[in-house]
Amino acid sequence: MTIQWYPGHMAKAKRQMIEKIKLIDVVVELVDARIPQSSRNPLVDEIAGSKPRLMILNKSDLADPDKTAVWIDYFREKGYEALAVNAQTGEGTKAIPQAVRRLTAERRARSERKGMNPRADRALILGIPNVGKSTLINRLAGKKIAKIGDRPGITTAQQWVKIGKTMELLDTPGILWPKFDDEAIGLRLAATGAIKDEILDSQEIAVFILRFLLENDPVALKERYQLSALPEDDIVFLFDEIGKRRGCMISGGDIDYDKTAEIIIRDFRTQKLGRQTLELPNRV
Ligand code: G4P
Repeated sequence: MTIQWYPGHMAKAKRQMIEKIKLIDVVVELVDARIPQSSRNPLVDEIAGSKPRLMILNKSDLADPDKTAVWIDYFREKGYEALAVNAQTGEGTKAIPQAVRRLTAERRARSERKGMNPRADRALILGIPNVGKSTLINRLAGKKIAKIGDRPGITTAQQWVKIGKTMELLDTPGILWPKFDDEAIGLRLAATGAIKDEILDSQEIAVFILRFLLENDPVALKERYQLSALPEDDIVFLFDEIGKRRGCMISGGDIDYDKTAEIIIRDFRTQKLGRQTLELPNRV
């Protein structure tokens, strides 16, 4: 899907989201469990204001479970509710309405004091494209809601979808743009497939993946490509070895680096190189 974000789009999307936030009690921010920080847009803090927050680490089936637990603790320390889910299978999603309920205790007590009838908790899902917002909404709603596409601004009428007895969800998510001023963030987004492949060079993405694995999971690398030894920091040598083993040659016996890079990226995205989480919380 083509997404083009321009300053005008961004400003409009932001304004519309601020309007929507007024209607809701809880902001549900969806992130990719493999890159829980890089798949955020820092603007969400500004948009959410003082509304209670639920962080959902989606695609947890693709991430390293130990690191997911570290992230959950980190977000809870920051005062958010946090859950890991797999929106595709529904694993973990049943806990969402209760988590939202915990976040609205104050609001409910307030309306009770005023003698108002209790009402459902209203929530909105926010996140960058491709984190699984539509999949999660459909999963929670138990039916297929048409995907409106990754475009800024929502033109269709808003509808509330009932989730169990206590929760209502806006049927269209808030779409934030990925933010990658920082090169490392861009590489993490690209490695997981969150941004289009044309944005960064595929060899650069593959080198980033290889460096990460050399440092964090050399065994996965060795096993996948049947390498007897790994170079400490000779990425070109490693590329050559992988290219040779996978038959990525061009005439004259040279390695086809583009093809090798594509294989590495594909293997990484399809978990042939393990369930990897590319970052840990920066607690400083
Ligand atoms: P969006 O609304 O935030 O843009 O994301 P969307 O739901 O369209 O999901 C983006 C892709 O991520 C989809 O795959 C979807 O199936 C996948 N996905 C969503 N949640 C999970 C999850 O928890 N685990 C895994 N492994 N994948 C998830 P796609 O290949 O683009 O489309 P499709 O062919 O699977 O529908």
